Parts: sequence; C-alpha cells; structure tokens
Amino acid sequence: MTSFNLQKPLNIVAVSGGLNHPSKTEALVQEIVYELGEAIPIQVHFIKFSEIGHLLGGAIYRHQLPQRVQDDLAAVEAADAIIVGTPVYRASFTGLFKHFFDFVEQTALVDVPVLLAASGGSERHALVLEHQLRPLFSFFQAQTLPIGVYATDQDFTPEYTIHSESLRDRITLAVARALPILEWAPAKGKRAEVVKEKTQQANQHLGINKQIEQAAVLPSAAVPNLDAAESRLHHKKIAKTHVA
Ligand SMILES: Cc1cc2nc3c(=O)[nH]c(=O)nc-3n(C[C@H](O)[C@H](O)[C@H](O)COP(=O)(O)O)c2cc1C
Repeated sequence: MTSFNLQKPLNIVAVSGGLNHPSKTEALVQEIVYELGEAIPIQVHFIKFSEIGHLLGGAIYRHQLPQRVQDDLAAVEAADAIIVGTPVYRASFTGLFKHFFDFVEQTALVDVPVLLAASGGSERHALVLEHQLRPLFSFFQAQTLPIGVYATDQDFTPEYTIHSESLRDRITLAVARALPILEWAPAKGKRAEVVKEKTQQANQHLGINKQIEQAAVLPSAAVPNLDAAESRLHHKKIAKTHVA
C-alpha cells in the first residue's frame, strides 16, 4: 500500500475494446485493474466490448443506444480515472472503440487521468499507444498517464492469461508511475455531480456530428488551476478587445 489518504475508493472505469470472448485485451485491462487495486482502494466499473460491442454499431445518436451503453457512457464521464485498452485493428484502435468514445461528451474528461493499453498481434505496432490512443485522449484534454502498456499475442497463454514476466513488469511500472497522479484525481471534485447535467443533455441530443453547447467554464471547474486558466484567458480576450 502507498501513503494514499483517500476518503473513499477511487472511482475507476475500465474499458476493454476487445470484441472477442475470451479476449487478450480484456485480460490485459483486468490485470492492470488488479495491480492498481493492490496498491490503492478502488471501485471499478468494467466496460467490456465483448459484451456491448454488438450494441454500438447502429446508433448515431446517444439516445438510440441501449440503456446499458448509455449507463456505460455516463460512468466514463463520471470516472475519477480511466483505464482503456483496445486490440490493434489495422494499426489503430477498433472502429467500435472510436465509435464509443465519439459519444462521450467532449469536455467530460478534462484532466481525467487515463492509462492507455493495447494488445496487438505484432510488436511492430506498439506505438499505437502514442500515435493513436494518446492523441484521441489528448483531444478530450484528459491527462494521459506517462506509461502505457502494450502486449502482443505471445504474452498470453492459450487460455488468455498473461505468462510474460516483462509484460507484468511493465504493468507494475505503469501503475507505479500512475499513483502520484491518481492521488490528485479525487481532488478534482465531485465529477459525478459536475458532469451529470452534461450527460443528461448528451443522452437527449448528442449525435455523432452534433455538439452540445459548451458552458463558459468546463465541467472540471472544481480544478482550481483550470479555473485560473479560464479567467486568465477571459482577461486576455477583454484586453484584446480594448486594444482593437
Ligand atoms: C481485423 C483485425 C485487424 C488486426 N490488425 C492488426 C494490426 O494492424 N496490427 C497488429 O499488431 N495486430 C493486428 N491484429 C491482431 C490483434 O490486434 C491481436 O490478435 C489482439 O491481441 C487481439 O485482441 P483480443 O484477443 O482482445 O481480440 C488484428 C486483428 C484483427 C481481427
């Protein structure tokens, strides 16, 4: 155990984009969750595409998604921290993984720590973490954690358990490096409360090519630094208007 002094367990949402069952991606994400749970108190909402993948395809509006998937999206938006994993498909995340995150309200993940993971057939695609996953979560202004975890098919037994020691070491390192950042995650406010209205709006109106109107202050307004940044920006804009 670390010196974490959490009032309550960290609200972790784990997302595995693995469509198959069993799935190496799912096993990988599960192992990361387990390792994190060994280090600090967490409560986990585990979203498995092996279960919900087939429910995603036909929807272009959030309200067209089954309630179960809407609940999963709400969980993502309210998480203290997220662990995401995807299989590599054609050198990227799967289409359905992206489709799911296309529904996530675009300011709901500001400053949320996200641990990136992927499982591919080949080591050659390890940089999918840096070139595909990290930019996606940077778009959300999430705080992508410094170390991601990439596995290949060779790291797993035929029963889809991890047998590679180096992969286990990598998971341990990724979690260890995550801990100092996660310590601040709950301090970012009562995320569930802050994003609730956004989530409700998104469920009613959000289509793939529609955005809901953004508030002047982002939903992670509980983060003092972000507030400060916003107001500095505001002053700057006013100053510019005066000059013009
Ligand atoms: C449609 C498809 C495309 C794939 N493309 C790649 C790829 O570009 N690079 C790679 O390393 N592996 C690729 N793979 C292999 C999977 O990423 C790999 O087997 C992964 O571990 C599967 O994870 P899962 O067990 O969770 O489904 C592909 C597999 C499929 C089915």
